Amino acid sequence: MSSPAGLLEILREKGTPLGPWGDAVASVRRELFLPDEVEVGDEFISRATSPARWLEVAYSDVSVTTQVNDGRPTGPDEYRLPTSSSSQPSVMLEMLSLLDVQATDRILELGSGTGLNAAWLAHRVGSHRVVSVEIDPVLTEQAAKNALAAGLSPLIVQGDGEQGWPAGAPYQRVIATYAVTAIPYAWVEQVAAPQGRIVAPWGGSFFPYSFAVLDVRDGRAEGRFTGYPAFMRDRNPRPARGFLDDFLHHREAADATTTGLSPLRIAQDPDALFYTGLALPDAWHLPVSADDGSGEMTLWILADDKASWASADHTPDGREYAVAQYGPRRLWDEAEAAHRTWEALGRPSRDRAGLSVTAHGQQVWLDTPEHALSSLTDPPRGRWTGG
Ligand SMILES: C[S@@+](CC[C@H](N)C(=O)[O-])C[C@H]1O[C@@H](n2cnc3c(N)ncnc32)[C@H](O)[C@@H]1O
Repeated sequence: MSSPAGLLEILREKGTPLGPWGDAVASVRRELFLPDEVEVGDEFISRATSPARWLEVAYSDVSVTTQVNDGRPTGPDEYRLPTSSSSQPSVMLEMLSLLDVQATDRILELGSGTGLNAAWLAHRVGSHRVVSVEIDPVLTEQAAKNALAAGLSPLIVQGDGEQGWPAGAPYQRVIATYAVTAIPYAWVEQVAAPQGRIVAPWGGSFFPYSFAVLDVRDGRAEGRFTGYPAFMRDRNPRPARGFLDDFLHHREAADATTTGLSPLRIAQDPDALFYTGLALPDAWHLPVSADDGSGEMTLWILADDKASWASADHTPDGREYAVAQYGPRRLWDEAEAAHRTWEALGRPSRDRAGLSVTAHGQQVWLDTPEHALSSLTDPPRGRWTGG
């Protein structure tokens, strides 16, 4: 059933906690927020040629890509980086539940996208209590039109979310729908005294897949991590992404070594990925399985600046694994050192980590704010000293 009621049914069957949001899901028609051409995974869907499929997607629990490559015309062989979407409804609800919105809260959203989340918020607390900031001017205008078509008028403004929106402050709740490496202090400053909450997808390039849930008190935000959301990264600045080959170069000149640490022990353990990722905010990882039944896998680590890359090959019977590294940094060595630090700490799970944000910046800690994880967050870089 391609309708709001159908989506509600899908969410209920999945066991998604709806909390006080069921009425918003049922009343705000998602189809009003989607452009006529959308993408879901590798599928392109045109409303003109496949109206039933388009509507089905609108009322499915899937993330719908609404813009790639910032809206630039993209050739058939070019990399398609999703740059805006209507997020997966169950993930939106997970975030809203973490945000713990009260009926009289003023709310700041960063990353309007289609405007659907701002519209859900406006439906719940009233349009006059919701401000949403979008960096892309075309999307900003469209999001405001979409919301109006649904009978809602949150203030949707163009700007860099990093600044928040001081003119609408103070807010009780701040929610970002793009992933940030660091929580901007402006968000903390714009939260009303005596207390409020910030929820944002958080993490650097290696592992941007955690929600930071922070309570704000006395000019300080503090909290922990949960969930495994996959959100788009902050556009300003946004690290380069592309095909693997766009990041690989000088393969013949790479340093070849071996390691006793299977790359699987990093790639398949979310806690290892989280803590290792603290040391690699500016390099991403890509596990590539051989897909031939051999059980072999290569873990690629690729610097955002494209200067350095590394690979580590897992083989099921191996005790030593082949490593290749190229560029000014030794990225595998950095990852292995971070993994070793995590092991020395007793392999803590992510839920023992926390984050504090003050006017001096952010600090990740283990168990208590006094125990800063500076050995991971400020690692000495393994600089290449060879000729
Ligand atoms: C996942 S989409 C948002 C989904 C949206 N909340 C909805 O309900 O459709 C992420 C959005 O964040 C925007 N964005 C990225 N970086 C931003 C920034 N620095 N400031 C404001 N918006 C940003 C992107 O342009 C994109 O539209």
